[in-house]
Amino acid sequence: MSKLKKLLKASQNIIKEPSLLNHVLNENLVREQDHGQKYPNLKTLPQLSFHELLGQNLDLEVDLFVLDGGSLPTDIALLKALSQNKKSYFEIGTWRGESVWNVAKHIDDCYTLNLSKQEMLDFRWNPRYAELHGILSKKNPSIKHLESNTKTFDFKALNKKFDLVFIDGDHSYEMVKHDTEKVFQNLLHDESVVVWHDYAFNPEKVRYEVFKAILDAVPSELHKHLYHVENTMCAIFVKGDFKTKVFESPKTPDNLFQISIKQNSF
Ligand SMILES: C[S@@+](CC[C@H](N)C(=O)[O-])C[C@H]1O[C@@H](n2cnc3c(N)ncnc32)[C@H](O)[C@@H]1O
Repeated sequence: MSKLKKLLKASQNIIKEPSLLNHVLNENLVREQDHGQKYPNLKTLPQLSFHELLGQNLDLEVDLFVLDGGSLPTDIALLKALSQNKKSYFEIGTWRGESVWNVAKHIDDCYTLNLSKQEMLDFRWNPRYAELHGILSKKNPSIKHLESNTKTFDFKALNKKFDLVFIDGDHSYEMVKHDTEKVFQNLLHDESVVVWHDYAFNPEKVRYEVFKAILDAVPSELHKHLYHVENTMCAIFVKGDFKTKVFESPKTPDNLFQISIKQNSF
């Protein structure tokens, strides 16, 4: 089909169904261009290797369901490795509870915040999806499950600072920006570490909607502490003097992960 024919067909469809325009505007390429205009010197975050961040290579086990909406083994390994020398953890976005479950193997003081089942049903989300929330994390009675929409949750009333915070709730620009602002205003002390899931669709493809929200929410004087953890979908805010790499895609691999899989019934 010629470009002109495609343009005509697209215009006809958009006139019939104007909400189709959102698909164009939400397209990652469009968001990337938009991002590049505001942050021409920060098109991707500098990359940190696990070894540089942790002072050693990864060597740990993670529990994962390996189902839709889940994380990469390296995403969970990042949280678990970071939690080894931390005492408190706060997370936005529980879903089945895999992230907090793994962190709680090292940290006793763990909080996870999610929409209540009723609110998910009110949004007309799949009832089975609502039902399955916390199916893993609720098996650990020491994990504190908070039920609220982050839009209305009173972060200040918690009156607590956390060593490690994981932001993994609603991934729209507005909500990542909102959640990040609330976390930075209320939950951090000088040495806190913050991890965002879905900074990237995969370790080689930045998700510009989330990236821009992070940069717009984190005070600009703190941008120098933001990195992409190599081989993960995660961005991290961490203070330290690190040697970084420039993001490249396609990437010449410099890590080979050995993953041994043991299946247990649940
Ligand atoms: C990607 S999942 C979290 C996955 C989990 N952190 C893990 O790695 O195992 C995102 C979760 O955010 C929750 N969520 C979405 N919007 C929210 C909001 N406004 N407030 C609180 N939770 C929200 C969803 O119900 C969903 O459980």
